[in-house]
Amino acid sequence: MKQIKIGLLGFGTVGQAVYKLLTENAKNIAERTGFLPVIEKVLVRDLKKKRSLPIDSKLLTTDPEDILENKEISIVCELMGGIKPAEEYILSALEKGKAVVTANKALLSEKGEKVFSLVNERRLYLGFEASVGGGIPIIKTMKEALVGNKIKRIVGIANGTTNYILTQMLEKGMDFAKALRLAQEKGFAEADPSLDLKGIDSAHKISLLASLAFNFFIPFDRVYVEGIDKIELIDLEFARQFGYVVKLLAIAKENKGKYEIRVHPALIPEKHILTSVRYNYNAFYIQGDFVGDILLYGLGAGGAPTASAVVSDIVDAIEFLTTGKRGLISYPQYEEKKLERIRPIEDCEFRYYFRFQALDKPGVLSKISGILGKYGISIASVVQIGRQKGKGAVPIVMLTHETKEGLVSKALNEISKLDVVKGEVKKIRIFEE
Ligand SMILES: NC(=O)c1ccc[n+]([C@@H]2O[C@H](COP(=O)([O-])OP(=O)(O)OC[C@H]3O[C@@H](n4cnc5c(N)ncnc54)[C@H](OP(=O)(O)O)[C@@H]3O)[C@@H](O)[C@H]2O)c1
Repeated sequence: MKQIKIGLLGFGTVGQAVYKLLTENAKNIAERTGFLPVIEKVLVRDLKKKRSLPIDSKLLTTDPEDILENKEISIVCELMGGIKPAEEYILSALEKGKAVVTANKALLSEKGEKVFSLVNERRLYLGFEASVGGGIPIIKTMKEALVGNKIKRIVGIANGTTNYILTQMLEKGMDFAKALRLAQEKGFAEADPSLDLKGIDSAHKISLLASLAFNFFIPFDRVYVEGIDKIELIDLEFARQFGYVVKLLAIAKENKGKYEIRVHPALIPEKHILTSVRYNYNAFYIQGDFVGDILLYGLGAGGAPTASAVVSDIVDAIEFLTTGKRGLISYPQYEEKKLERIRPIEDCEFRYYFRFQALDKPGVLSKISGILGKYGISIASVVQIGRQKGKGAVPIVMLTHETKEGLVSKALNEISKLDVVKGEVKKIRIFEE
């Protein structure tokens, strides 16, 4: 049996799971592919760190050259995370003609231009299935299975942490802080969860999916991002009264040659298929012009599901190394002209949910609706909660008809300055097909 030697950069959650998978399922993989993938070296930061998974200490190193300069190693798996030094190591491995597999969405989304163009120019192999959607085979689906389609839109629930929090809030009536604490206790949220809560992790992922869908590289900084850190339980409850569920959506859409790429919380109709994606599960709802709608669902994070994706790329890398085949499909290229076709959020149109905290006085509603009317924003429904003892301000909740975001921002800015309106005005976009 021919052996293929692998170097792992990183032995954390994902690195250990890849090691475990390749150890436990080696025979299975060898029988299916005719090759035995063998881990030759593992780069870590700290050799003395206590590791929950037993590993021969001779395999561990803190010197990246032991992997990058090792001629025996033909596949390098970057499972360290972060931009530096991961970018340098990936470029160095590629330059040396090694096949590279990475789970690093942040790096590809922020710095992918350089990596993707090197891989295209030199016809090298870069697998990044694990960078989006954990165990869900979304990259291969976008890159290969749907290649015949023009992709009209992708709507993703792309982050398990935020989906877990929103599900707990909605189904158990927990406030945001309590739901976040629970997610951290259960290991679904990091000690510093800001990348997830602020929507940045979802934005990294949708930038890569949009790049594959529209066939040009869309860097992270071209994605409009809003997280769930300002969502309150009261908004989830009001949304439910109107027949909606709040989810953090990652959206990529094409319409008449213009693109919308964005991440934000959204009200989605209760009966929409994406409302059944609960807790830490992820899903990607994709529409192609010929395939119609498809839904990919599964665990979007965690060592084991992510290792499943890494190993699928390792097998593709073996094919590339042994046959030279890398498929016909190129990696997304940076094209400034095409980036100009991304529609700024101010020009996008949505229906909206608004919540104002306003004094319960005659004429307040007409002041608010007067400003909305001035900007051509028409109200579809209103709920005004009656006087509450001891409370100065009461919620007024509105759903609007379709309106341009730019006009909404101006109107809400004006409304928030009214002396009868207290605190921040809440705005959540409504997602409808
Ligand atoms: N965790 C998930 O569920 C998940 C899912 C999908 C994708 N990903 C992606 O997978 C990658 C790895 O995530 P993870 O959760 O496995 O990370 P992690 O648990 O923090 O592990 C990182 C590993 O890389 C090593 N490392 C980090 N910086 C290093 C450096 N400068 N030099 C040498 N070694 C270094 C660490 O060494 P020490 O062990 O010595 O500290 C550790 O073994 C990230 O890009 C992440 O976005 C993760």
